[in-house]
Amino acid sequence: MRNLEANIQEMQTQLVAYCENKKRLSLPPHFYTNKPWLTHEKEHLLETQWLCVGRVDEIPNPGDFFATELLSQPLIAVRDNTGEIAVLSNVCRHRNMQLAEGSGSCKHFICPYHAWSYHLDGRLLAAPLMNEQQSSDCDLPRYAVEIWQGFILVNLAGNCEPFSPQLQKLNTLLANFHCDQLQHVFVEEETWPANWKCLIENFMEGYHLSRVHPDTLGNRTPTRLCEKLGDGPGFTAYKANYPQNAPSRGIHHPDLSEDELAGSLLFCAFPALVCSVSSDVLVYLSLQPTDVDHVRLRWGMSVYDDKMPQDEIEQRVALWRQINSEDRAKLAKVQDALYSHHAHSGPLAPDDFEGTIYDFVRYFAKKLSI
Ligand code: FES
Ligand SMILES: [Fe+2]
Repeated sequence: MRNLEANIQEMQTQLVAYCENKKRLSLPPHFYTNKPWLTHEKEHLLETQWLCVGRVDEIPNPGDFFATELLSQPLIAVRDNTGEIAVLSNVCRHRNMQLAEGSGSCKHFICPYHAWSYHLDGRLLAAPLMNEQQSSDCDLPRYAVEIWQGFILVNLAGNCEPFSPQLQKLNTLLANFHCDQLQHVFVEEETWPANWKCLIENFMEGYHLSRVHPDTLGNRTPTRLCEKLGDGPGFTAYKANYPQNAPSRGIHHPDLSEDELAGSLLFCAFPALVCSVSSDVLVYLSLQPTDVDHVRLRWGMSVYDDKMPQDEIEQRVALWRQINSEDRAKLAKVQDALYSHHAHSGPLAPDDFEGTIYDFVRYFAKKLSI
């Protein structure tokens, strides 16, 4: 049987075997190439779990909003007049026009098609030339939202158990960074030619840092200093330690210990949020598949120092663009090679370097083997 023809039940059985087998291996290649399996992942994992749409610091004031999309659902994240964050369907209840584009600030949303208007909390405000009866039951649907560490998380299915309790150990690791006090400085959305899980795995392993990023990260966070941190039911994490002679970084929270200042903490909050947190900057990538070999990412940066000069912000964004382009080039090559007859489930490097991949794959296998 060709791998590409494996069906869902067979693949679920393989995941059961993966969980029982104590060998530390990567997933079999067809989990990254099989289209029906991607549909299964979306329905049984991504739609049922908490996914990140952005950061609360992107919308600090009432009326601030941004539009985005999650698994083909157009959304608006908005801070309403009470200061609460709401995530609304970005589909007009009249005849399905998208209400908002990009980001901005407003008092209410006005549809660009026939000018129906909505309050910031999604309630219909007015439907021109129509009476109340005609436009009843036309409030915008609201999604289940949880705010965690300054991230806005949405559960499309609306019945997932709370996110934060699955991340207790990670909350402890992050406590002194005070991620909920950061200032948004940058966000962008793009699509890479890779399976979404390859990008999670790539972001979460330090094994490639010195090889793939010699000029951007090789001296900052070399592979040999990577150190696996704790894991839990909802996350995995590692620390990319800085060399001893590393220059000290920018303004940071006084709670941070010497040890916390001496490295960047990288975590994956399962299933699809990855993040690097250092003393003065947080960079996150929120992922969603658009196809089996394409991943859409919304990536953003928040900083501790609200007076960080614009040129420094630009330098940091440029550095991350470079890092991302180095990873993207490698992942495109991996994706092509995953279709080879000789692609296989390969051995993972020791815990400090690829133990995080093992954690992610075990989570994935457990969730999808039933
Ligand atoms: S589609 Fe929005 S007002 Fe008509
Ligand atoms: Fe990388």
